[in-house]
Amino acid sequence: SFAVRIASSGQTYTVAKDQSVVQALLAHGIEILTSCEQGVCGTCVTRVLEGECEHRDLYFTDEEKAKNDQFTPCCSRAKSAVLVLDL
Ligand code: FES
Repeated sequence: SFAVRIASSGQTYTVAKDQSVVQALLAHGIEILTSCEQGVCGTCVTRVLEGECEHRDLYFTDEEKAKNDQFTPCCSRAKSAVLVLDL
């Protein structure tokens, strides 16, 4: 598992192995708009301020993924222990 921190509130939430970032945040009342939930549409794209993304989408180009400044929380995860999200 890893954790996501919400930049605006400073709150940190654990993302369990069997849940997405979107699901983990929704459990705490934080809603991110989604559509495909498969990393295709880009609806859920969220800016990443700190931490290393583990991109699992088909939406971003390799170049965009390498920038590590946004990800798709419906399916992508973290390589680092914490991801700080611009929410
Ligand atoms: Fe479509 Fe995340 S909801 S990419």
